[in-house]
Amino acid sequence: MNATEKHADWTMVAPSVESLQALLDLTDPKETAELLDAAYATKCRHVGTTVYFRALVEMSNICSKNCLYCGIRSGNAQVERYTLSKDEIISAAEWADAQDYGSIVLQAGERQDAKFIALIEDVLQTVQARTEGRIGVTLSLGEQTQDTYARWFAAGAHRYLLRIETSNPELYAQIHPADHHFQERLECLHALRRTGYQVGTGVMIGLPGQTTEDLARDVLFFKDMDIDMIGMGPYIPHSATPMKDSDFVSETQLDLALRMIAVTRLVLPDINIAATTALQALNPTGRELGLKAGANIIMPNVTETRYRPAYQLYENKPCIDENATQCRGCLKARIKSIGETIGFGKWGDSPHFSARQPEGESTP
Ligand code: 5AD
Ligand code: SF4
Ligand code: FES
Repeated sequence: MNATEKHADWTMVAPSVESLQALLDLTDPKETAELLDAAYATKCRHVGTTVYFRALVEMSNICSKNCLYCGIRSGNAQVERYTLSKDEIISAAEWADAQDYGSIVLQAGERQDAKFIALIEDVLQTVQARTEGRIGVTLSLGEQTQDTYARWFAAGAHRYLLRIETSNPELYAQIHPADHHFQERLECLHALRRTGYQVGTGVMIGLPGQTTEDLARDVLFFKDMDIDMIGMGPYIPHSATPMKDSDFVSETQLDLALRMIAVTRLVLPDINIAATTALQALNPTGRELGLKAGANIIMPNVTETRYRPAYQLYENKPCIDENATQCRGCLKARIKSIGETIGFGKWGDSPHFSARQPEGESTP
């Protein structure tokens, strides 16, 4: 029996921190390959080999927060700040709809002012009207009040991505300024669920001071929170941040991220897991490797090329000089190269989410 088979019954019994940590700690190439293969087999069984697209609109790099790891933190004066106009956001959504992408993600730094809240509400209503409700909308706009979450839900958003970054409160405190609170973030995840969203979260993998025990506990956190979707990727230092001097070996970081994706898939067989762009910052085929390790979602960047250089949360981000059409062609080829297909024109909700819905309610 190999290291992964020893824990094959994870979906039946509660996995222990130790068993998950043992897999996250694997270094032997043969055992690691067995882990990734087992995760891929689980993915094939539960969610299949159709990759769903989420067109990513990086709509503003203005952020009121100052996370110690992030390239667009408010304290980084070297970044030129931008916010797309309503028309620019709508055009991106219409382009994604015309390409049959099925879903979009509106992402920005965190802002809680009335003007921003109203802009998002207006954009959501207009996207619904212009695409006749065809396109699914995910928001990734940070911590907000329950009222704001509810307004945006009513205006047409139905998924929300808010990474917990790490489920270890002490580590959370180490990578954030003193006025960023773990408990508040956690409360936001509960508020999102109460509001009716499909809730996504995730962590950074390979943070300084993070142990594989922390990561094992992150996976159990996802399970306890009954999460529908995961967006997580390797931590990659940015030179204009306080955490710029973190020890960093690309290959080690990528391998750990792939094992984390695999372990998450084994524990949560029927959720959506993104192969994030950060994987590709570490290896030219990083996203394909993510899909082979159990991920099933890709977020093609559809942000206008001229804004892309100013939205670098981490360094060496791919697709800075490419445009939405180039990324589309590139990703089609990459997905084909591993024998998978793209679920064009579908929202691609996770079976995990669908199973929680009342009988008869389904999404396009
Ligand atoms: N490396 C990797 N991921 C990062 N993020 C922010 N900065 C970095 C970095 N240096 C991630 C955070 C955030 C998401 C939008 O980007 O997890 O939630
Ligand atoms: Fe702002 Fe998000 Fe970056 Fe933190 S990680 S500084 S909230 S954009
Ligand atoms: Fe953007 Fe490959 S996905 S160039």
